[in-house]
Amino acid sequence: MLGSLVLVWIFICLLFIFFRIQRPKNFPPGPRPVPIFGNLFQLNIANPLKDFERFAERYGNVYSVYFGGRPAVIFTGLKAVKEALVTKAADFSGRPQNILISDIREGKGVIFADYGPQWKEHRRFALTTLRNFGMGKQSMEDRILGETKHLVARLEKSAGGFVNPQTMFHEAASNIIYLVLFGTRLDYEDATLKEYFQRLTESFKIANGPWGMIYDTLPITRTLPLPFKKVFKNYYTTEKVIGNMISKQKASRVPGKPRHFVDCYLDELDKVWDDGSSFEEGQLRRYIIDLHVAGLDTTSNTLRTAFLYLMAHPHIQERCQQEIDAVLEGKANASFEDRHNMPYTQAVIHECQRVAYTVPTAFHCTSRDTELMGYSIPKETFIIANLSSVLSEEDQWKFPREFNPANFLNEHGQFEKPEAFLPFSVGPRVCLGEGLARMELFLILVTLLRRFQFFWPEDAGEPDFTPVYGITVRPKPYRMGVRLRGAAR
Ligand code: HEM
Ligand SMILES: *[C@@H]1O[C@H](CO)[C@@H](O)[C@H](O)[C@H]1NC(C)=O
Ligand SMILES: *[C@@H]1O[C@H](CO)[C@@H](O)[C@H](O)[C@H]1NC(C)=O
Repeated sequence: MLGSLVLVWIFICLLFIFFRIQRPKNFPPGPRPVPIFGNLFQLNIANPLKDFERFAERYGNVYSVYFGGRPAVIFTGLKAVKEALVTKAADFSGRPQNILISDIREGKGVIFADYGPQWKEHRRFALTTLRNFGMGKQSMEDRILGETKHLVARLEKSAGGFVNPQTMFHEAASNIIYLVLFGTRLDYEDATLKEYFQRLTESFKIANGPWGMIYDTLPITRTLPLPFKKVFKNYYTTEKVIGNMISKQKASRVPGKPRHFVDCYLDELDKVWDDGSSFEEGQLRRYIIDLHVAGLDTTSNTLRTAFLYLMAHPHIQERCQQEIDAVLEGKANASFEDRHNMPYTQAVIHECQRVAYTVPTAFHCTSRDTELMGYSIPKETFIIANLSSVLSEEDQWKFPREFNPANFLNEHGQFEKPEAFLPFSVGPRVCLGEGLARMELFLILVTLLRRFQFFWPEDAGEPDFTPVYGITVRPKPYRMGVRLRGAAR
């Protein structure tokens, strides 16, 4: 009995010696990690946010945490974010590999592709394609306006009553991405599609919860039949569905006359490359899933936050409407160019994005040994840039803690964008859909504000601005009162 206890004790000691976590020299400070588990026991794995806040208070603007044996560096504030993502962009623009969300994609696609030629080629391709070159006759603007027309029709039906904005904006954001990718809107009654969305939601829940954390921090558990297996299974099924959709496009396409993103990619596949190319159909399938995932909750959560604040501040809503009426007088549709004549509305939209901080953190990985704010950071360290902190940083904003469009207006009432406005992040990994997202936010908000007045339901109590955290931040569910505006169109 005593003998076996001694053996266990020796075993534990050996474990600690062999798996001891040695902090690299001059590494940012942080809570002390234990072998194998790192700081797992100091984190509430269902919602580590409160713990991060505590660490930041204790250790300062740059601190470290161990996820299992892997170190992560978390930093706050514009100065650190700029030094890492802009000044030292080549060192800080990787993505963590060998974790659940990159493993399901096998390093392909774009969001979780590591910093390298394959990511670069695919990113360049998407940026060019999204900028309207060779995307058929319809411009991006027309696609968005077309979808906005459906939103208007839906709201007209509810005028005088209330709507739940959640599904409405979610479907609109989804449709716009699909219009870009496949040239069609989605049919939400379609059974395949319903399953597709169910699988996405389910996988997200598992990947972002404790099981995702366990997969990432304790590699020995990966072969066990645990819920993260489901995430892989869902992903492969989704890939198959996408594969079928691509096949349909192949059957109807005319090479060299692309109708949409998928056609553009297929044209790219037809080209002969002397020195090889990273373009292949498996990439395309994952790319499609990536673009869909990246553009969905981000856009719809931002819209929901915007309408929440616009309802809570009716005088701000009204001032936008006056400006919109004056600029669009007699015109059938808004165009993205009109933003230059709408400084106030532009300021309001940006202020909504600032208070929404829809993507609170950017996850990167160092691609070589480097330094940040005087600390040494080795290759393959997780990097978590706290973007939300920059959006409300004291000294960067006139009114960091309140909803105030004056944050984006100079003394002459002109629109001005402070350097700390980084909701899309910054550097080589900056949001690939920024142009599309900004166009969507502007055209949808302007079109809806022109036609409708939105008000907070009297029986709903006070508006609650407390955000709900996740990979993307969203407002609490709410109902939106809507009425047709009188004299205006
Ligand atoms: C309001 C809406 C949006 C916000 C706030 C937003 C924000 C962001 C942020 C913060 C990142 C991470 C950047 C980094 O790692 O440093 C990102 C990446 C990305 N976003 Fe967006 N995004 C939005 C809409 C969209 C849309 C509509 C698309 C679809 C076309 C999109 C596609 C992407 C992609 C593909 C990436 C990964 C880029 C890469 O790793 O190279 N986003 N976005
Ligand atoms: C980012 O900064 C905000 C505000 O400074 C803080 O509340 C939040 O906990 C930080 N998040 C992380 C992951 O450090
Ligand atoms: C306004 O946009 C809608 C939807 O795209 C389109 O059908 C209509 O032709 C546009 N009108 C004008 C005058 O551009």
